[in-house]
Amino acid sequence: MLINDKVAVVTGAASGIGMAVCEELVTRGALAVAMVDTSDSVLEAAERLNENKSGKPARPYKGDVTDVEFRKQVFDDLCGNFDIVNICVPAAGIFRDRMAVKIDKETGEANMYPLDTFRMVLEVNLIHPIYWSMEMVARLAQYRHRNGLKKWHPDELIQGSIVFIGSVASQGNKGQISYSTTKAGLEGAATTLMKESMYHGVRTAVIHPGFVDTPILQGMPEGYVDNYILPDTQLGRLIKPQEIADAICFLITNSAVSGELWVDAGWHPSAS
Ligand SMILES: NC(=O)c1ccc[n+]([C@@H]2O[C@H](COP(=O)([O-])OP(=O)(O)OC[C@H]3O[C@@H](n4cnc5c(N)ncnc54)[C@H](O)[C@@H]3O)[C@@H](O)[C@H]2O)c1
Repeated sequence: MLINDKVAVVTGAASGIGMAVCEELVTRGALAVAMVDTSDSVLEAAERLNENKSGKPARPYKGDVTDVEFRKQVFDDLCGNFDIVNICVPAAGIFRDRMAVKIDKETGEANMYPLDTFRMVLEVNLIHPIYWSMEMVARLAQYRHRNGLKKWHPDELIQGSIVFIGSVASQGNKGQISYSTTKAGLEGAATTLMKESMYHGVRTAVIHPGFVDTPILQGMPEGYVDNYILPDTQLGRLIKPQEIADAICFLITNSAVSGELWVDAGWHPSAS
């Protein structure tokens, strides 16, 4: 699927991977790129991407991805202006790391990962990325139905592509019980959506980045990445957000590709 003249929704667009994806989509001629984020800086980011661009393709939407009404408003606005959305990259994500079970050395009591924190990570990283993607499929399905279209045919110009942002942690990683669970869960969602949504002309994929140079890494323990990860990668440095954006655009543009892509510079969490 060509990116040129397509309409995209990217969440987590004010920073890191999401912002790099928006930049790449604009560079490749997207008609409109909805930049969704809770941060005020999404407004400034969109303004920067629109500099010297006719048609001002970057459209900022400030809000929380877990807010269902906000999601509907974003899609109402886009579909009101452009009929359909073709590309969805739900990149907004958080992590709240700690061991699943910890022993309090003084009391001897075992203490489990807090349930409310688990639920919060699940909402942001798993449930709502799936709902933003399903919203795209739903709008596309309605539009095709209104136009009398049934099972999608490759000759049709209307089509869509979803890329979920997994992680190398999807294979399990010490200290990441909630994060790893959400990233592994995206694989099941992507495969299910792929099987169901090809009827409407939508492909899905999951990209699994390794350690990428973005602000999210500021939450990692000091020295952890430099001492324990980078020496074991092929690149010997953090992956650039632009390298992930490029791989995401490959997943969008090559219509024969679905499934999972590892963009990890050769590093996975070890089994121990
Ligand atoms: N950086 C890495 O090493 C790495 C590796 C693997 C996967 N990932 C994944 O890539 C995605 C993007 O992460 P990043 O590294 O660019 O991080 P980042 O912190 O630079 O960007 C995340 C963005 O998401 C936004 N966000 C968070 N919660 C939100 C919410 N509820 N509603 C709307 N916006 C929200 C933040 O404001 C921020 O702008 C995440 O899903 C993350 O899990 C990152």
